[in-house]
Amino acid sequence: MPKLSVDGVGEFEVPQGKRLVNALEDEAKIDQLHACGGNARCTTCRVEFIAGEPGKMTEAEKQVLAARGLAQQPGLRLSCQILCDHDMQLKAISRLTGSGRADAGKRPADEITPPAVWTTK
Ligand code: FES
Repeated sequence: MPKLSVDGVGEFEVPQGKRLVNALEDEAKIDQLHACGGNARCTTCRVEFIAGEPGKMTEAEKQVLAARGLAQQPGLRLSCQILCDHDMQLKAISRLTGSGRADAGKRPADEITPPAVWTTK
């Protein structure tokens, strides 16, 4: 099982291939935001990679990062567009606490949405 290490929180074993956004909630048990429900629209599911940033990226993630001017930020990725298929170390930089939002957003589906079309970063 891949290891997920969240800065200042701990290290967790995650089921192979689980969506990162859901692993942050279920395994790391943090209040990760995902306002659009995991559909590559809101960017509130963003995380900052320290190590193990995936080389592949969905077309949807690439487009929304570019549109929001976030594509050049080192290590910044959308957790709803990433599968846990290797060890990762990251900072959880977008959480419900302190956000002023009423809730974290609708639970993202188990599979990547919209259906993943893979490209590279
Ligand atoms: S972009 Fe909205 S939850 Fe990922």
